[in-house]
Amino acid sequence: MCGIVGYTGSRQAQEILLQGLARLEYRGYDSAGVALEQAGSIEVVCRKGKVEALAHTLSHFDFQSHCGIGHTRWATHGRPSEANAHPHTSCAGDVAVVHNGIIENFAELKEGLIARGHQFRSETDTEVIAHLVEEALEDPSQPTLLQAVAQATEVLIGSFGLAVLWDQEPGTVVACRRDSPIVVGRDETGSYVASDIIALIEATRDVMILEDNQFAVLTPDSLQCYNQDLEPISVPLTTIDWAIDGAEKGGYPDFMLKEIHEQPRVIRDTLAGRLINGALTIDELEMTPEALNLVDRVYLIACGTSYHAALIAKNLIEAWARIPCEVEVASEFRYRDPIITPTTLVVAISQSGETADTLAALRDARVKGAHVFGITNVVGSPVARESDGVIYTKANKEIAVASTKSFLGQVVSLTLLALLLAQSKGTLTSGQIRLLFKELVDTAEQVETILSREAQVEPAARACKDATSALFIGRGMGAAISQEGALKLKEISYLHAEAYAAGEMKHGPIALIDEGFPVIAIATKSPVYEKVLSNLQEAKARGALIVAIATEGDEEIASYADQVIYIPKVRDALSPITASVPLQLLARAVALQRGCDVDQPRNLAKSVTVE
Ligand code: G6P
Repeated sequence: MCGIVGYTGSRQAQEILLQGLARLEYRGYDSAGVALEQAGSIEVVCRKGKVEALAHTLSHFDFQSHCGIGHTRWATHGRPSEANAHPHTSCAGDVAVVHNGIIENFAELKEGLIARGHQFRSETDTEVIAHLVEEALEDPSQPTLLQAVAQATEVLIGSFGLAVLWDQEPGTVVACRRDSPIVVGRDETGSYVASDIIALIEATRDVMILEDNQFAVLTPDSLQCYNQDLEPISVPLTTIDWAIDGAEKGGYPDFMLKEIHEQPRVIRDTLAGRLINGALTIDELEMTPEALNLVDRVYLIACGTSYHAALIAKNLIEAWARIPCEVEVASEFRYRDPIITPTTLVVAISQSGETADTLAALRDARVKGAHVFGITNVVGSPVARESDGVIYTKANKEIAVASTKSFLGQVVSLTLLALLLAQSKGTLTSGQIRLLFKELVDTAEQVETILSREAQVEPAARACKDATSALFIGRGMGAAISQEGALKLKEISYLHAEAYAAGEMKHGPIALIDEGFPVIAIATKSPVYEKVLSNLQEAKARGALIVAIATEGDEEIASYADQVIYIPKVRDALSPITASVPLQLLARAVALQRGCDVDQPRNLAKSVTVE
């Protein structure tokens, strides 16, 4: 959610900022802007729309700047417009600020600043920061930019990752954070700051991840971090081992398709080294088998797609480990009073590891005494750092806003966790665990088979593309999978879609069905297969256009469905891994046929760091 990048050094700043912003664009893309320091003054250029539009505008100037900050925005306060685009500046235009996060007390601060004579140009919460820094710099004690930023942030309530320029300290960028990520790094040409490692990986693999209330001062020759009291500190280096191609399309037309195709690798990497001498081991969880054995309640908390991975896992944890498991949307969990005891395990699932609601729920659970695991894709992310133990999904960087490979990585990790709990509880024998693990590994090959028949989804996509609404149905595992199928479709094709447990269809949604209404059914072979067929009959009788995700070799389904997408046979417990893939491909195909941008759907952001 919002991308920040900054540079100071011997290279042309504009080029580096634009490159970084293009990499960060998945975090928000309704406007973009840069502030470039040139000959002791600051030039700001902003554009509504994507980074490309900003690059086009900048190509008409000839800025010679070696120090600057840039931003790509996902609007929270104030609609997407040029005036609301970052960087925001002080009254005199001598201070420029880019911000990721939300300032909750901005209205009150703005009121005070206006009363003290400050003039505002935007509707954003961020602009108050530029004016507060300006005010701090006016102090007769002649503070440095670092001191002024520290003073300004003291009065802020909310979350922020910031990068700030001041024309009186040319060549300096000050960065700081609270509840919003900031990373800094250096190469031989200068110093860099960004809200996400991905913007830095071309420059350096060794980055420093700032903690809350830490500051960094970047100059062409140095990079120094400070604690809250502005004492110099050394922040440990984190080495990034992602392949750079994680940030490139690698010959695919879009990131989404590339990432869908990476899923067999994600499955294999997530499972590699987990079965040792016939026993499952997840050392990073840092919990002894004895402690795991005591767990008597599990909460899975997450948002969006990650929440759907949790819905799937609930079935596995209860079936295999026989532990009651509840799944909660993190934004609800954090404001409830859930029953938490020292033997409660809370698992926070977040691809980005920085989703504000998930993080708040995680912290709350820890305060209440739960043992907390994180499942995330981002090394060093807040969810990873603040959990008692962590499982990393080995998806590598995911760029397309709609999550695919991260989702599959989460489902595989949670399946592993369910098996581990069953192992600790002794509810499955070691033979059963080994067999399930082997079948889990085999899903990588099955997903490859599905991907090799990608074109299967095209006729179904054509049949659905002009619809205004669609219904996804399934039972058991299929009910959870259908939730994710519906979300994927609405996220990227803007076609309204709802998911319902198939047995519930008759209690309401069936009223929607008329001639040609798409019903997408998870109708794989499972203990409830026959029940799903009955539900399809009900829909068919009312004229629905039925697309079925079915098990290879099932000929019976063809008499119920208008379109059948076949997938290899797997046991029901593992069906989410295979059945999700055609739904991802279907959503993408429908979106493309409707002329949508599958990587950057409107109004969404890859990670949501505000409440
Ligand atoms: C945003 C994204 C979703 C994602 C959700 C949770 O809304 O657009 O794709 O599922 O955040 O993100 P997380 O990083 O916590 O998994």
